[in-house]
Amino acid sequence: MAAVEDWTRQDSTAPAADGGLGISLSRVEKAFGALQVLRRFDLNIPAGQFVAVVGRSGGGKSTLLRLIAGLDRPTAGQVAIGKSQVEGLNPQVRLLFQEARLVPWQRVVENVGIARGPDWREAATETLAAVGLAGREDDWPSVLSGGQRQRVALARALVSRPQILLLDEPFGALDALTRIEMHKLLEGIWRQRGFTTVLITHDVAEAVALADRVIVLKEGAIALDIPVDLERPRRELADPRAVELQRQILETV
Ligand SMILES: Nc1ncnc2c1ncn2[C@@H]1O[C@H](COP(=O)(O)OP(=O)(O)OP(=O)(O)O)[C@@H](O)[C@H]1O
Ligand SMILES: [Mg+2]
Repeated sequence: MAAVEDWTRQDSTAPAADGGLGISLSRVEKAFGALQVLRRFDLNIPAGQFVAVVGRSGGGKSTLLRLIAGLDRPTAGQVAIGKSQVEGLNPQVRLLFQEARLVPWQRVVENVGIARGPDWREAATETLAAVGLAGREDDWPSVLSGGQRQRVALARALVSRPQILLLDEPFGALDALTRIEMHKLLEGIWRQRGFTTVLITHDVAEAVALADRVIVLKEGAIALDIPVDLERPRRELADPRAVELQRQILETV
């Protein structure tokens, strides 16, 4: 009996299996009034893939992410995660934004874990260590640097072991060195855990450094969809193949 209870409790609180879920959009359209933002949009992202989406401001990148996250609904077409249609927020999907959006009156560990239920402190502490913030559990958000706050936000996104991580310009506000640190951190965790990742970025070098595949969004459609077949971990600046891919992307954007 006790064993059954234990198992049940674990089932509701233990991390989901890693490996990611696929994302598929078929014939998706999204309009806001007369403004057509996405038009007959088809996209398949296999489980575990790391996709970067680049494109000009106002091109519909955040809109695309919101549809995948279930924060918004398409005007037409279907969005699916794994085998299920998206019909609102999904606990398997987590989002990270440009601003960390921490709760100022909660300590770091509470920001990461408090919404998680039983054993939250342990899980939050472990995830904070994974993002390089061991020992900072009891700090207030106000004493952290911008990069550290973004690490806390990343930990909060990862603590429930999501199958899909959606990132909307998460490093855009950070200085160049901190950004490169965050790239290494994200790539390391992604390689270890294998969740499916969609990263929106204005930074083409960032896209090529991190992604398996780069998509250029232009006027509501996919203007370019190219694989990045460079071995990992990648060195960001030196590789001429990376530079050539960046050139190709910049030509399309
Ligand atoms: N809720 C909304 N209501 C009306 N229009 C919207 C809404 N959300 C987005 N839009 C419009 O849809 C278009 C695409 O917006 P979106 O935020 O997806 O662009 P983006 O590619 O993320 O741009 P940026 O790079 O500046 O973040 C814009 O013209 C925007 O004004
Ligand atoms: Mg946006």
